[in-house]
Amino acid sequence: MSKLTAAITAVGAYVPDYRLTNEILENMVDTTDEWITTRTGIKERRILRDKDKGTSFLAIKAAEDLIKKKNLDPKEIELVLVGTATPDMPVAATAVYVASKIGATNAFAYDLQAACSNFLFGMSAAARYIESGRYKKVLLIGADKMSSILDYEDRTTCIIFGDGAGAVLFEPNTEGLGLIDEYLRSDGNGREFLKIEAGGSLLPPSEETVRKKQHFVFQDGKSVFKFAVSNMADGAAKIMERNGLNHDDVNWLVPHQANKRIIDATANRMGLDSDKVMMNIHRYGNTTSATLPLLLADYEEQLKKGDNLIFAAFGGGFTWGSIYLKWAYNP
Ligand code: UT7
Repeated sequence: MSKLTAAITAVGAYVPDYRLTNEILENMVDTTDEWITTRTGIKERRILRDKDKGTSFLAIKAAEDLIKKKNLDPKEIELVLVGTATPDMPVAATAVYVASKIGATNAFAYDLQAACSNFLFGMSAAARYIESGRYKKVLLIGADKMSSILDYEDRTTCIIFGDGAGAVLFEPNTEGLGLIDEYLRSDGNGREFLKIEAGGSLLPPSEETVRKKQHFVFQDGKSVFKFAVSNMADGAAKIMERNGLNHDDVNWLVPHQANKRIIDATANRMGLDSDKVMMNIHRYGNTTSATLPLLLADYEEQLKKGDNLIFAAFGGGFTWGSIYLKWAYNP
């Protein structure tokens, strides 16, 4: 019997309509379009402005897009995983609400939290369920309403992030397509550099934590940048090496969209020309859990069955790694 692998068989996506451009940000904080463009590659991001809508709204929209495109009966979905750094609420899991709202009434569901590596680590988790032979349809969603945890007076963070969601369906494959290999790592010493300090069990919410703005994202950008550049490139290079892939064998790099300079460094290390590098950071900024599936949605029409895709991500924690996946369907 041929080996069972976990293949991506459908993609869905959603971004809110409102565009927060660099020009608008110039009037909100002390920054310039020129600084943001040259330092990050970002031109605009999408923001979910409705106060009464959380991350689940984005996740549901992305899942519904996938369900419609694939003509899928949601009752066939057995597991819904939502990777998010901005759950609707600390308890209960956003995934559970999403599963019910999309009609996945035969599924179980839970959230994953590994910051910007949410989707990458989620791919690993989803694949294990499929490879076990016990599950046939696993829906993985990456969704974040980053605007809900940003201080729009802090120019070092508010210019970077945007809101969005993407979803993929994992199904069994016996043609050798799907997730082939993974190299995933984490280092807890990194949490000082990228965090939301308050609101958890270590520092519960109080008047003081609100006054000190400790419920917003804090990032020591320079330190994170250094770790991100070396680790994202290392991970991608390792995956290529151990699977005997050279730059000609790789059809696409699917990199986390944190900073164009980090993406370029990773592509350079892999010896890839820019036409093999998926990129949408200029349109969406860093959408944390949603960057990788949003790329797949944007480039889906160009992907061919058998294409070799290398995913790479780096995030708070620190968390990082790379995945080698063979694409399973034609446009
Ligand atoms: O996705 C999760 C992982 N996250 C990442 O991978 C992000 C990694 N870090 C980065 O992408 C970059 O470090 C940033 C884009 C966050 C910052 O770029 P940088 O080139 O590392 O800038 P910096 O933090 O070293 O700041 C350089 C200067 C500083 O001024 P001084 O001290 O040199 O006078 C900052 O105050 O730029 C200043 N600055 C700004 N100026 C205009 C910081 N933010 C801004 C801004 N507009 N928005």
